[in-house]
Amino acid sequence: MAKIIFNQQIDDGIYYIEIAGKYRGSMGQFYMLRGWATSHPLLNRPFSIFDLNDHSISFIYKVVGEGTQLLSKLRKNNDLELFGPYGNGFPLVEGKIALVGGGMGIAPLYLAARELMTYSPTNEVHIYLGFKENAILTDLFEAVSHKLIVDTGGYISEIVNVNSYDYVFACGPQDMEMALMQQKNSENTHIFFSVERRMGCGIGACLACTCKTSAGNKLTCKDGPVFPGEVLLFE
Ligand SMILES: Cc1cc2nc3c(=O)[nH]c(=O)nc-3n(C[C@H](O)[C@H](O)[C@H](O)COP(=O)(O)OP(=O)(O)OC[C@H]3O[C@@H](n4cnc5c(N)ncnc54)[C@H](O)[C@@H]3O)c2cc1C
Ligand code: FES
Repeated sequence: MAKIIFNQQIDDGIYYIEIAGKYRGSMGQFYMLRGWATSHPLLNRPFSIFDLNDHSISFIYKVVGEGTQLLSKLRKNNDLELFGPYGNGFPLVEGKIALVGGGMGIAPLYLAARELMTYSPTNEVHIYLGFKENAILTDLFEAVSHKLIVDTGGYISEIVNVNSYDYVFACGPQDMEMALMQQKNSENTHIFFSVERRMGCGIGACLACTCKTSAGNKLTCKDGPVFPGEVLLFE
């Protein structure tokens, strides 16, 4: 069991939760959270690591159903369980890098920016965040990037020029990911997507999270959630 430091609403139906303890993990990996002591809902829920330090781990989440509704009721000093880190995460790379997030897809990008900036002082990190309505947490993102572009109500994929980057790490709606992939015409640009699928176990045991790739079906929880854009088969 872990203790909650805060679980704060930061926008309509969107929460930022910080949990006490020293946890492992790197950019793009996720934890399975369980914020209820009852046997229902049966399954833990996956969330990307938003941030991590020596004394806490944090996540941002949107209330969409029963599990996230229960999570949103938790308060300071309440207990919850978390399991992880799971998944492969984004690769450590060097060069000019664009981080592109749509909606809650911004969740893994804050830690990604922090890690990439620390990994190599020559890295140039530009962050593109797209929101349907209100922009959130932009002050945090601004502090960890060389350039921050925020769009509300439009299509962030139309603002970023993927071919001007060595690497693009993206997370968001499938339409956004497809649009980024369609833009790519440079062999020097490498695109990685963090994909979301409904999950059961998070550790490769239940086969619930299949993702279609050019190399056959892969498990999002174990082989992903990060995949190179070229191998993903969009459905
Ligand atoms: C690797 C990974 C990382 C994620 N990181 C985050 C994050 O950082 N922040 C965040 O807000 N959400 C994240 N999600 C999505 C989050 O796990 C789901 O929103 C959550 O499990 C829903 O639980 P629930 O009980 O509230 O909703 P449920 O009652 O289980 O479902 C409610 C609705 O959400 C849909 N849904 C549930 N799970 C998913 C999913 N994985 N992908 C797409 N639709 C889904 C259902 O189809 C249904 O329509 C992530 C998912 C994955 C796989
Ligand atoms: S969630 Fe069970 S195999 Fe991926």
